[in-house]
Amino acid sequence: MGVLAFPLFLPLLWRLIVVNASFPTTLEGPFKPVTVPFDNQSYHGNAIDLPDTDPQIQRTVQGFEPEQVSVSLSSDYDSVWISWITGDSQIGDDITPLDPESVYSVVQYGIEGSQMSNEEVGYSLVYNQLYPFEGLQNYTSGIIHHVRLTGLEPSTLYQYQCGDPYISAMSDVFYFRTMPPSSPTNYPHRVAVVGDLGLTYNTSTTFGHLLSNHPDLLVLVGGLCNL
Ligand SMILES: *[C@@H]1O[C@H](CO)[C@@H](O)[C@H](O)[C@H]1NC(C)=O
Ligand SMILES: *[C@@H]1O[C@H](CO)[C@@H](O)[C@H](O)[C@H]1NC(C)=O
Ligand SMILES: *[C@@H]1O[C@H](CO)[C@@H](O)[C@H](O)[C@H]1NC(C)=O
Repeated sequence: MGVLAFPLFLPLLWRLIVVNASFPTTLEGPFKPVTVPFDNQSYHGNAIDLPDTDPQIQRTVQGFEPEQVSVSLSSDYDSVWISWITGDSQIGDDITPLDPESVYSVVQYGIEGSQMSNEEVGYSLVYNQLYPFEGLQNYTSGIIHHVRLTGLEPSTLYQYQCGDPYISAMSDVFYFRTMPPSSPTNYPHRVAVVGDLGLTYNTSTTFGHLLSNHPDLLVLVGGLCNL
């Protein structure tokens, strides 16, 4: 059982989780693609981006409440990173980056069923770049928060909330399970690998398919989309 490092950027994804399904081996393949086939002429996936106006990708939080909360593995079973975004990204000619110092990065946590009496403080940043898609406009991200939790028990379910408690901008309560101490018999048995998920008309299907196979560990090899 691993830390499930799933980004929570689309609440919709979680409503589409299909439970069950056996776990075929590659010997039973090749399999029919679950979404759209890979185009072997253009080497492109053919998935179409959701438009910015799509209801699935509208902001649902107020002010500096956390969005896109995710858990990722740190170096060992006793440590994980909790990450999230606050505030809006901006694209345009005349934009002012948000000040990362304006919101705290706090995680309150505890073993499931007990009080969330532990608290850890992390750091935050914004990044800026030229946005090449609609002419060369400037882009500045929302505030990206990272908090590392340490000293965790192995194979244990934790509950946590993240955000800024001083301005009452905390997330809902979420859960993660830590890894077992690694050994020749203790390791994540089901490992899913995915890249370039995007925010397309097929992203929810891809996620639903991944989760229906109950991976112990999800390796995101890049291309995680944010807005
Ligand atoms: C994939 O996206 C296309 C639209 O681009 C849609 O017509 C199709 O139903 C989607 N398929 C799945 C399985 O998500
Ligand atoms: C490319 O895809 C077509 C079907 O769309 C298939 O017939 C062909 O064998 C494929 N070529 C390669 C190199 O995989
Ligand atoms: C982007 O931002 C930089 C620094 O603020 C500014 O000098 C530049 O003119 C901006 N470029 C565009 C295309 O808005």
